[in-house]
Formats: sequence, structure tokens, C-alpha cells
Amino acid sequence: MTRTQVGIVGAGPAGLMLGHLLHLRGIDSVIVEDRTKEHVIERVRAGVLEQGSVDLMNEVGVGDRLRAEGMRHDGIFIAFEGQRHRIDMAHLTGGRAITIYGQNEVVKDLIAAREASGRPLHFEAADVRVHDLASDQPRLTFQHAGTGYEVRCDFIAGCDGFHGICRPSIPAGHLRIYEREYPFAWLGILANAPPSSPELVYSLHDRGFALFSMRSHDVTRLYLQCDPDEDIAAWPDERIWKELRTRLATRDGWAPVEGEITQKGVTPMRSFVAEPMHYGRLYLAGDAAHIVPPTGAKGLNLAMADVWRLARAFGEFFETGQRGPLDGYSRQGLRRTWRAQRFSWWMTSMLHHAADENAFDHKRQIAELEYLVSSEAAMTSLAENYVGVPLA
Ligand code: FAD
Ligand code: PHB
Repeated sequence: MTRTQVGIVGAGPAGLMLGHLLHLRGIDSVIVEDRTKEHVIERVRAGVLEQGSVDLMNEVGVGDRLRAEGMRHDGIFIAFEGQRHRIDMAHLTGGRAITIYGQNEVVKDLIAAREASGRPLHFEAADVRVHDLASDQPRLTFQHAGTGYEVRCDFIAGCDGFHGICRPSIPAGHLRIYEREYPFAWLGILANAPPSSPELVYSLHDRGFALFSMRSHDVTRLYLQCDPDEDIAAWPDERIWKELRTRLATRDGWAPVEGEITQKGVTPMRSFVAEPMHYGRLYLAGDAAHIVPPTGAKGLNLAMADVWRLARAFGEFFETGQRGPLDGYSRQGLRRTWRAQRFSWWMTSMLHHAADENAFDHKRQIAELEYLVSSEAAMTSLAENYVGVPLA
């Protein structure tokens, strides 16, 4: 049996950033992850960092590569009916912007910081479980390289994503779940092709949604709306490019540059909130507590905001014995989560075709898009949510 102050389940962005923030406050933690280090680093996921996430990475000393390689974008394009319209987010929000920097790069930087700290981070842990959550001394148990481990903790942080074990360990009846599934998914690709637009393009086409994004000056990231049970085998590269050309190309002659496809996958779309974000001494953060559809680019940023507040709350508890910030953690987190839920749902419903929608719905979407790109008030509303509210 060993001891730590905070047992952290999951080495995604939430768990790794939490471990780093606690380290900077002199609070010890053990991070336990069930996948391999390579898998955690190579998993292709988010790419958009809000201003607040960028500022956080810089403030806590893990921003060197982000400053060198991240791509700051002051605006985004919204495309429909063959035309692209630019929303100048920096102009509308007093200079705030987003930065393109892959989640796998964020994770790589945070793993390097963890390894430099010398504090424990166990990959490939099996049979991870949490116990005695309602007591003052919850426990974390797991198997690693054939040996069983037991860690007595002051607190446990459930940073183990949507499919993790922490949320399901909370006894029935303590959580209220709010959920919505969408009747579509995203087929995403990475391609060795230089981005042909300097900024992201969100497009609504008669054949459905498409998104042009990027990872670097040589790599493009693209998404197509597809069916939730889409068989990726039915999508040879040529079919994907044809569909992307059809949905993205605009009358001004713009189209994505094509190149070798190096990765393909289908991502389901879901809105999900578990309330409250804690039970006893277990605190949930990131995707373990909430999921947003990716259209608003909010998931990774919500995870960062959660652990920033959670680290502050643990810090207050260990430094002064005050429980106030820990008691307020869920309430404040849910306010930010619901704001992001509303925005992500709105972006999703404005830009996708649902199978059950009719001609009225389509006309309403076009009217909404026309209003969005012609009203400074509407553009400001999108911009301030997209660049994100400051951490608080
Ligand atoms: P995760 O990244 O899921 O990390 C959880 C970790 O816990 C994982 O490493 C997992 O292996 C581990 N784990 C699970 N179970 C156990 C267990 N039993 N024991 C130990 N460890 C366990 N968000 C944005 O902000 N912007 C975007 O542009 C964006 N685009 C996206 C595009 C796609 C295709 C997808 C899939 C997601 C996107 N997201 C985006 C969402 C974003 O990736 C997630 O919100 C983010 O990964 C949440 O981080 P997390 O640390 O909470 O969870
Ligand atoms: C991405 O680059 O992966 C990306 C960008 C914007 C989104 C979602 C994903 O809304």
C-alpha cells in the first residue's frame, strides 16, 4: 500500500494537465492510464485550442512547442450555397483568437513535463478500480506488469474520459444524466496536403456538413457528415476526396488541396452531462463528466477549464483546509459546460442535415446562416463563444 494526495485516473489532456498543475503547487499525485504511451500520444482527436487553453499552457511552462508550432487563427469561414464568409473573431472579441495545435501534441508536451517532474505516471495499468469514495481515504487499485498496487488517496480525480470507470463507480441515484444523440457522425481524415485556406471552413451543403481544418503547414484535417453506423471500408480515398470537393468547393474557385490520406476514422456525435461532477471524494473532470459534439471545438477546452479549477480547489484545501472551492467545483463547472453545450448544439444543428428534416428546416438553416454572416451581433455571439470565455 502506498499513499498520495490525489489519485488521477486517465492520462488524457485532463489527467495530465491536472497532474502538472498539482505538481506546480507541490501536491503529489499518481496518474494511472490503461493504454500504452504510444496509443495516448498517437490518438488523433481535437485540434482547436481556445485562447484560455493557450494562455494556460504558456503560464504553466509547457508552451514552448505550442508557441513555435501552433497556428494562431484570428477568424473562421462559414460556407453555404457556394460562398465562403469570413468571421473575424479577433476583431469582434478584442483580440482573442484560437490556435491550431493537435491534442496529441498537447499530450506529448504534458507527458514530457510529467516525466521531468519524476512523479508517477503508469501506462498499461490493468483492472483499474476506485473504492471507498464516500470515506476520507478513498483507494485506487490496479495491476501493472503483473503486480497488484493499492494507493490510499485524499482525493480521486476521474479524468478517464467518457468510457472510463470512475463515473460508473458512483452509486446509482447520485447522478442525473442529460443526454442527446445525433442521427449522424463525422468521418475524419488526415492528409499530407498543404492547407489551401489559411483558416478553418465550416460548410453546410445539400449533401451534408463538411469541415476543412489542418494540423500544420503540410497536413490537412477534414471531416464529412456521415451515418453513425458508416462502414469506413465503403470509403476508399477517391470517394472521400470526391465528397469533400463537392461539399466544400466554393464558387470563388476555392477547394481543398488533395494528398495522401494517412488516417481515417468515424466519430459519433453526442451531447452528455452528468450532474453533479463529484461524489464523496471523487471529482470528475473532462469527458468523464461531459461530452459535446465536436462542431463547437469545445471538448478539450472544457477539460482544461475543469482541471484548472480542480487544481485550484485541491490547492486551497491542502494549503488552508478550506472546502469552499471544492464545494463550488461542480456548480461552476456545470455553468461553463452548459454554455458550451448550448453553443455546440447550436453549431451542430445549424450545419448538419438530419434524416427527418424537411424543406422548411433547410430554409430555416439557410436563413440562420444568412443572418449569422450579415449581422455583427450574430457574428460576435459566435466569435465570443468560439474563442471561449476566460478561465474562471
Ligand atoms: P480523454 O482524452 O478521453 O482521456 C481519458 C484517458 O483515460 C484516456 O487516455 C483513456 O485511455 C484513459 N482511460 C479510460 N479508461 C480508463 C481506465 N479504466 N483506467 C485508466 N485509464 C483509463 N475538442 C476540442 O476542444 N476541440 C476540437 O477540435 C475537438 N475535436 C475532436 C475531434 C474528434 C474526432 C474527437 C473524437 C474529439 C474531439 N474533441 C475536440 C474532444 C476532445 O478530444 C476531448 O474532449 C478530450 O480528449 C477530453 O480529454 P479528457 O482528458 O477528458 O479525456
Ligand atoms: C480539428 O481540427 O480536428 C477540428 C477543428 C474544429 C472542430 C472540430 C475538430 O470543430
